[in-house]
Amino acid sequence: MGKFFMECSSSGYLFLLLACAVLVCSEASPSDSIMGDQSLKDGQTIVSSRGTFELGFFSPSKSSLRRYVGIWYKNIPNITVVWVANRDFPLYNTTGSLKIVDQRTLVIVDSDSNQTVWSSNSTGTIAGNAVAQLLDSGNLVLRPENDTDPMSYIWQSFDYPGDTLLPGMKYGIDLVTGLNRELTSWRSPEDPSRGEYSNRMDRRGVPEFYLWKGSNIQFRSGPWNGMRFSGMPNLKPNPIYNFRFVFSDKEVYYTFNLTDSSVISRMVMSSDGVLQRFIYISRTKGWNLYLTAQMDNCERYNLCGAYGSCDINNSPACGCLKAFEPRFPDYWATSDWSGGCVRKKILNCTEGEGFLKYSGMKLPDTRGSWYNQTMSLEECSRVCRDNCSCTAYASMDIRDGGSGCILWFGDLIDLRNYNENGQDIYIRLAASEIESSKSSKGKTRTKLIVIPVVAAASGFLLFVVLKCRRKRSKIEAIIPQSPEQDNSDVSEKGELELPLFDFATIIMATGNFSPGNKIGQGGFGSVYKGTLSDGQAIAVKRLSKRSRQGLDEFRNEVLCISMLQHRNLVKLLGCCIQEGERMLIYEFMPNKSLDFIIFDQRLAAILDWSKRFQIINGIARGLLYLHQDSTLRIIHRDLKASNILLDQDMNPKISDFGMARSFTGEESTEGKTNRVVGTYGYMSPEYAIDGQFSVKSDVFSFGVLVLEIVSGKKNRRFRHPDHKLNLLGHAWWLYKEMKLQELMDESIRESCNRVELLRTVLVALLCVQQSPEDRPNMSKVVLMLSSDISLPQPKEPGFFNERDLSDTEYSTTKKEISTTHNGMTMTVLDGR
Ligand SMILES: *[C@@H]1O[C@H](CO)[C@@H](O)[C@H](O)[C@H]1NC(C)=O
Ligand SMILES: *[C@@H]1O[C@H](CO)[C@@H](O)[C@H](O)[C@H]1NC(C)=O
Ligand SMILES: *[C@@H]1O[C@H](CO)[C@@H](O)[C@H](O)[C@H]1NC(C)=O
Ligand SMILES: *[C@@H]1O[C@H](CO)[C@@H](O)[C@H](O)[C@H]1NC(C)=O
Ligand SMILES: *[C@@H]1O[C@H](CO)[C@@H](O)[C@H](O)[C@H]1NC(C)=O
Ligand SMILES: *[C@@H]1O[C@H](CO)[C@@H](O)[C@H](O)[C@H]1NC(C)=O
Ligand SMILES: *[C@@H]1O[C@H](CO)[C@@H](O)[C@H](O)[C@H]1NC(C)=O
Ligand SMILES: *[C@@H]1O[C@H](CO)[C@@H](O)[C@H](O)[C@H]1NC(C)=O
Ligand SMILES: *[C@@H]1O[C@H](CO)[C@@H](O)[C@H](O)[C@H]1NC(C)=O
Repeated sequence: MGKFFMECSSSGYLFLLLACAVLVCSEASPSDSIMGDQSLKDGQTIVSSRGTFELGFFSPSKSSLRRYVGIWYKNIPNITVVWVANRDFPLYNTTGSLKIVDQRTLVIVDSDSNQTVWSSNSTGTIAGNAVAQLLDSGNLVLRPENDTDPMSYIWQSFDYPGDTLLPGMKYGIDLVTGLNRELTSWRSPEDPSRGEYSNRMDRRGVPEFYLWKGSNIQFRSGPWNGMRFSGMPNLKPNPIYNFRFVFSDKEVYYTFNLTDSSVISRMVMSSDGVLQRFIYISRTKGWNLYLTAQMDNCERYNLCGAYGSCDINNSPACGCLKAFEPRFPDYWATSDWSGGCVRKKILNCTEGEGFLKYSGMKLPDTRGSWYNQTMSLEECSRVCRDNCSCTAYASMDIRDGGSGCILWFGDLIDLRNYNENGQDIYIRLAASEIESSKSSKGKTRTKLIVIPVVAAASGFLLFVVLKCRRKRSKIEAIIPQSPEQDNSDVSEKGELELPLFDFATIIMATGNFSPGNKIGQGGFGSVYKGTLSDGQAIAVKRLSKRSRQGLDEFRNEVLCISMLQHRNLVKLLGCCIQEGERMLIYEFMPNKSLDFIIFDQRLAAILDWSKRFQIINGIARGLLYLHQDSTLRIIHRDLKASNILLDQDMNPKISDFGMARSFTGEESTEGKTNRVVGTYGYMSPEYAIDGQFSVKSDVFSFGVLVLEIVSGKKNRRFRHPDHKLNLLGHAWWLYKEMKLQELMDESIRESCNRVELLRTVLVALLCVQQSPEDRPNMSKVVLMLSSDISLPQPKEPGFFNERDLSDTEYSTTKKEISTTHNGMTMTVLDGR
């Protein structure tokens, strides 16, 4: 599986114009507070006692005249502002100052005109002298001079957050005063004024957070379930920060603090509406993205309508809950899901109605719901049953078997399925539906297919690291600078993604890396099979100690691949960095990779046509997710049979993100590189020749892969007595001769569904067309594979005659070949 080059750093760096070359201050060491009779002029700053935060006037960009009072990290070179006082009321010159008036209010005034541009509007008053102090937490508080007790604060900036949530802030509602602390985005990275997006708690029902764009909801967190928000399955215990949710009579809020004072982390509502958590990496002096709340397309609020459920593993992602059907089937078929779903059997509240359990769900919108924190699930069920308008119920707290009760009364909105950390909800259905769903249970289990273990899997996880110093390409280039000769201890805290495995655990699991457990060997280390104490099988990729390369890449892979979540992508379970070792821990794939099976005449029979078709569809969905549905949006660049791993049920999982590139937004879905890295036989012509890559180069590789799966032959080693073409050329030739069915592997002759097979091969031919523009995108491919829509005529494939070139190179070595080709360095990695 390899390296995954992501640059997850944040934008939002600011240029600070501190007109402070001339510090008028007379004191030698900066103070952390402003006394009642002082004022802080533009150019002066105060610094918290341990030097963590600094407060003063700043401009958000070099070109801006606007002056704001803000708080930023003192020790981070690229200024990161965490709070702005007068965000909507900038000054346009440097004559502003910050002071306390009337012993109770902080104001920013323009000293020329004596005009107040901003006021803290604090209520209480202070007997004696007031002081404004910047605490080491980043909180600016207004308190009596002689009293440091938080109860005495009459105003604090933590109660009025901007776009940033800092450790120790209470994010939620004070039920006594009614204060609701919300995050509001900046208008743009260079404009701190209130932007379009805000995220705040709503407690009309079970409290949960809603992310608004103007007056539209974009995303909701789901209610707290004792461990996390129901809609944030990635919120897990981790080595970086502790979090908790407090729900008492007086207040309800979420808060976090850092496990270690050397770690710097913040949560931000970005100006384009994404809730993100960043961690500061001191060595690279940059912020790394650690988590985003909105992981994928399914997070869009109410995407599938009432009683619809979004499942990112499916295509299309929207479906109806069991026992429900689309309200407007015609619209539904055209991907307009807004009508949602309706019951197949209308309820009429007679005896015999019951509840069906739906598992692995995000709980629906809780506005209008009813709850009780102490009831048991049985009581909850009874209360819901007894009230005809109750549509569903669920536990409030899922720990220890569940406790508490939430009842829903209206339509159930914004549901989705999760692969992990979803929860149970019980939905009211007509009695006949309950009966039919009971009787159909147990029929769905798929057969287990057991595969004999093939001889040692060399290259099971091919692992590649690129060092690259070139300018960023159009694609948001995710190749970090190559790490300078850096001998710092790798296990620096706070720079790593969760979950962290203990070295001793790994030693135990792999029998101290016993040779018998070794299942693969790649360029940068070995791969071992292991078993954790709870019986879970894992694959451990151990990077060789000699390789000091790729530390940043390693970090980035860990940081970023863990944010991808799809049934058809291999799953990273964690990593381990200790004692100079770097290891990645993946779920173990008992059936190795696709190439072991389809290219082996003995084993090929294991995969009949329907299984192969399922594999092709799975790969297509995984690729679609990478291209389109994941927040990171990724081009894989090295899709091939050996990178498709198979789980025990022969479900395909795409692996090895060693060459993957992420791209952002809609604009750039292609890029160019001078260093072409990939595997011959799978590379599209524009990539291999011009270094031009895009989602369409992945589509090309996918097409090659499909032809290989159907034919059981390798594209590159293909031989045929009648011509000298490669597999692509052969398929094209058969297509012209109208005998495409001859392409199929002997071993699927009996199991094959001719119509499906011909359709699949045609789709593959469309994918390998010479010109990228002619190739369909993955969402089209998924649609073409799964429906009867008519297919266009494919044009000539690219590279159908290119065997000679690859053969010479192939014969040279089994590892890495670099050769000069038209003056350009070309690196080819052999897959097997
Ligand atoms: C500074 O700007 C304020 C308005 O924001 C204006 O009233 C004042 O005259 C300006 N002062 C100078 C010195 O330009
Ligand atoms: C500015 O306002 C303060 C009270 O707000 C007042 O005492 C002072 O005289 C004013 N100064 C000028 C120059 O207007
Ligand atoms: C303080 O109150 C004034 C007048 O009601 C209002 O315009 C201003 O926005 C308030 N300031 C803050 C920081 O809320
Ligand atoms: C602080 O000073 C005020 C006024 O001098 C006094 O009323 C108050 O009791 C003092 N508080 C403490 C905690 O000393
Ligand atoms: C902060 O950390 C301490 C231990 O370091 C823990 O006891 C406390 O509960 C944490 N607070 C929050 C808000 O997580
Ligand atoms: C810091 O900001 C400068 C521009 O001021 C930029 O060139 C540099 O890349 C930034 N550093 C990081 C680590 O992002
Ligand atoms: C309610 O449904 C039951 C069974 O589904 C049916 O027998 C009964 O007639 C219905 N009653 C009304 C009022 O529709
Ligand atoms: C919650 O349910 C328990 C047990 O049924 C009951 O004793 C308690 O009064 C209920 N609390 C509220 C606020 O309804
Ligand atoms: C059912 O619950 C709703 C909402 O709590 C309530 O308004 C209604 O009175 C209840 N109906 C019965 C029959 O208890």
